[in-house]
Amino acid sequence: MINYNLNEDTAKIKFPSTRYQGSKLKLLPWLKSVFMEIEFDIVLDAFGGTGAIAYLFKSLGKRVIYNDYLVSNYYIGKALIENKSVKYDVKKIKGLFQIKAEISYKDFIQNIFKGIYYTDEENKTLDIVVQNIMRLENIYEKSLCYFALFQACLQKRPFNLFHRKNLNLRFNDVKRSFGNKRTWDTPIQQLFIQALEQGNESVFDNRRENQALNLNIFDFKTTSDRIDLIYCDPPYFSNKGVGVDYHSYYHFLEGLCHYDHWPDLIDYQTKHRRLIPVKNQWNDPKNVVLAFDQLFNKFQDFIIAVSYRNPGIPSIREVIDILASYKKNISVSRTPYKYVLTTKKNQTNEVLIIGQ
Ligand SMILES: C[S@@+](CC[C@H](N)C(=O)[O-])C[C@H]1O[C@@H](n2cnc3c(N)ncnc32)[C@H](O)[C@@H]1O
Repeated sequence: MINYNLNEDTAKIKFPSTRYQGSKLKLLPWLKSVFMEIEFDIVLDAFGGTGAIAYLFKSLGKRVIYNDYLVSNYYIGKALIENKSVKYDVKKIKGLFQIKAEISYKDFIQNIFKGIYYTDEENKTLDIVVQNIMRLENIYEKSLCYFALFQACLQKRPFNLFHRKNLNLRFNDVKRSFGNKRTWDTPIQQLFIQALEQGNESVFDNRRENQALNLNIFDFKTTSDRIDLIYCDPPYFSNKGVGVDYHSYYHFLEGLCHYDHWPDLIDYQTKHRRLIPVKNQWNDPKNVVLAFDQLFNKFQDFIIAVSYRNPGIPSIREVIDILASYKKNISVSRTPYKYVLTTKKNQTNEVLIIGQ
């Protein structure tokens, strides 16, 4: 967990550790120092992901609008950004993992995902716990429990992803250069408790009306609310054109959020039972320059801050040039950085480009 001091007279607040492609958690101290130099009050985190940066803004006392097009991330935004005070009592967790007489449980995960990501016993546990969570009435309790469930599910996955049918990797008797066998073997309930405790600890009130949204950023209505600054950390393409399709990598978590309709949303042609793809301007390296242009055009009335890195498509220079066609004053801050989940050993150059 990362510690913050909101200000001298408030208690220390903490953000949970997560494993997510492109998370900026480790860059928070550097990003904080750059954002402290800019004047703004209301901020939109357009590609919110884990919520780490939205949480930084929250800790700085800003009014924060968190957005992500994945529903699973939206619940994280609800739990950690919008939520001011609701925690989920750890003593109630046992009940979440138990069968309740009044519920007639479905067994989608046990049937559809047999042998794909988790063991039969784990699939059964997931079927039960998700159907109990989706019935929780308080939206913040429900969001915190989804958050804990997602973390438990990710921790038990090789590479922390759902991009392949590879349950066997957890059990092959081989020397591994990746992953953590002990965590893979830890029961879901135990990982859930650890994550929920961290989530509970992160809940705090910055005395602002913060909000979580679940939109494709191009559907955001710029006229509906006052915003001073938009922070953009969009999906990144390497210089070879390899990108991160978040909907595809995290489809299992999305399915958990749509449990009752999940079987109708699956692309059964795929071995790993991913969801039928949804259209997204950030999934095609050939269109990504246009996507940046459309993004900056749409939000040109606000301060625009973009997290980016080298080497990528487009290059840092190209992103600056696109932004310069909408903004007069551009500043670029740099720091060396290596992403945890990248396979390459070489360090990248992380930049924060700000157009005012
Ligand atoms: C690089 S990650 C953001 C990481 C985040 N800053 C953090 O520290 O965790 C990009 C995020 O953009 C989201 N995303 C992708 N396409 C989107 C779209 N069209 N509109 C809104 N969010 C989108 C993905 O779901 C993903 O969470």
